[in-house]
Amino acid sequence: MNADELKRKYIEFFKNKKHKEIKNASLVPENDPTVLFTTAGMHPLVPYLLGQKHPLGKNLVNVQKCIRTGDIEEVGDEVHLTFFEMLGNWSLGGYFKEEAIKLSYEFLVDVLKLDKDKLAISCFEGDENAEKDVESAKVWESLGISKDRIIFLGKEDNWWGPAGNSGPCGPDTEMFYWTGDGEAPKEFDVKDVKWVEIWNDVFMQYNKLGIGKLEELKQKNVDTGMGVDRMMVVLENKKSVFETSSFSPIIGVVKKFSKKEDERAERIISDHVKASVFILDEKITPDNLGRGYVLRRLIRRALRFSRLIGIQRDDFLEEVAKAVIDINKESYTELKKNEIFILNELKKEIEKFKKSLSSGLRVFEREVKNLEGNVLPSNVVFTLFASYGFPIEMTVELAKEKNLEVDEDGFWDEYKKHQDLSRTATKGVFKSGLADDSGETTQLHTTTHLLLQALRNNVSLDIEQKGSNITKERIRFDFNLDRKLTYEEIEKIENEVNEKIDEELNVERKEMSVEEAKKQGASGIFEEKYGDKVSVYTVENYSKEICAGPHVNNTKEIKGKFKIIKQESSSAGVRRIKAILEN
Ligand code: ALA
Repeated sequence: MNADELKRKYIEFFKNKKHKEIKNASLVPENDPTVLFTTAGMHPLVPYLLGQKHPLGKNLVNVQKCIRTGDIEEVGDEVHLTFFEMLGNWSLGGYFKEEAIKLSYEFLVDVLKLDKDKLAISCFEGDENAEKDVESAKVWESLGISKDRIIFLGKEDNWWGPAGNSGPCGPDTEMFYWTGDGEAPKEFDVKDVKWVEIWNDVFMQYNKLGIGKLEELKQKNVDTGMGVDRMMVVLENKKSVFETSSFSPIIGVVKKFSKKEDERAERIISDHVKASVFILDEKITPDNLGRGYVLRRLIRRALRFSRLIGIQRDDFLEEVAKAVIDINKESYTELKKNEIFILNELKKEIEKFKKSLSSGLRVFEREVKNLEGNVLPSNVVFTLFASYGFPIEMTVELAKEKNLEVDEDGFWDEYKKHQDLSRTATKGVFKSGLADDSGETTQLHTTTHLLLQALRNNVSLDIEQKGSNITKERIRFDFNLDRKLTYEEIEKIENEVNEKIDEELNVERKEMSVEEAKKQGASGIFEEKYGDKVSVYTVENYSKEICAGPHVNNTKEIKGKFKIIKQESSSAGVRRIKAILEN
């Protein structure tokens, strides 16, 4: 059974069980501005999981393409992929635990003919917010899974979601399959990698609001996810996703060109080119911002690893891309239509980077040779970025290979200075690869002023800003306090900021001397050197701060609800909070 057949069987099975098929949605999430790519099958369904009626009814099934960017630098092991497909079935307020588990079991054992004696299960062990999932374990037992093969684990393992900062989530039960030789051990040991996770049934009972706050959902949902590639490992009895029929023709092309045996490099190239093909298929092109930046990182990293295995041919990655298109053309018919565009964009990006890759690598080697200590200074990292096109992640990885560190914070300071100089202060590429040139950061800048004032009003008048970093998605704000904020304080702060947003207050900018600013009670980090004149931003009757901006003209331009999503200690006596504007 190849991957196309597996997908067909899955869809057919659930259609026969009264599910309606929904289409494979775009890799660019429509309803969720907090993430760059669709990361799970449930992503396009968020509004329906929260209670909106789906036009096709309560029971749905699909195959969904996904991208996870969290561990691009980790790709190369047996199971991690940047691009993957997830099979999923949903109940939107219809069936719940018992039926979901029974359907999973029937598909695995009756349709895929997996050996039920090689199955093992994990369930949620419970915590102060949600109870132990005894119910799921009982259903598994009733299906004949022995108690030794059912374990209970905590939130890190058996809880799923939300996909972004808030949204539907809940306990899950995960299915594992024994891939080792011979009979499966009597007891399930989740740490043994021969037990491969194949499917996840999530019982979405909750909606996560702010920090730790869970609200019962009006409707109880089921969200399941089966990774196609992982299931192929099981069905084809292979050791890794790269050995399955979905990947071996791609690896084959890499091996054909390679001058050196290097399994990790072969896997990285195959994974990255596959992900790049599917991102390009969405008409996203390489860029220094957002999704285009993820694509750029993937292509540039693939090129670096192809050089490492001795491949100099310019068209090599295009050949790999052709293999990707060929093997996926049945499920994704548009790939063929977009082939010329995809190959052409790939070629253009390689042209752009190939010369500076080798000269940049020479610069890197030279700097490493002359380095005293084990931290690569920020000016070198910045030069590699600005003059040689090395994504910061690439420099970090190169440094790591030499057991060196990189002054990343210094790099971002340098980056920011450079931006200020070129007067593009509202543009940015951020550490996570996220970037922005839009109004979102402007809104968050003003929100940060509201936040500081709310902290002062509700916690202590001595609070000063100790640092701040704003991306399109969130505020990160450091301030002096040597303890945690309480939930009551957080709630008060959130309420006050939201009230000020609702009050539609004017924001005014005035230039004045530092002396005058101080006299007027403006806050600012006075140890910093300001020029002769500073800009003071005043939020009508509320806050006054020295700041370079940019800011909105009126708080009514701030869209969404202010929420503190995380607090942690930043350094001694300094707290850090992360906050968002939730739509
Ligand atoms: N949403 C669940 C997952 O991604 C099914 O594993």
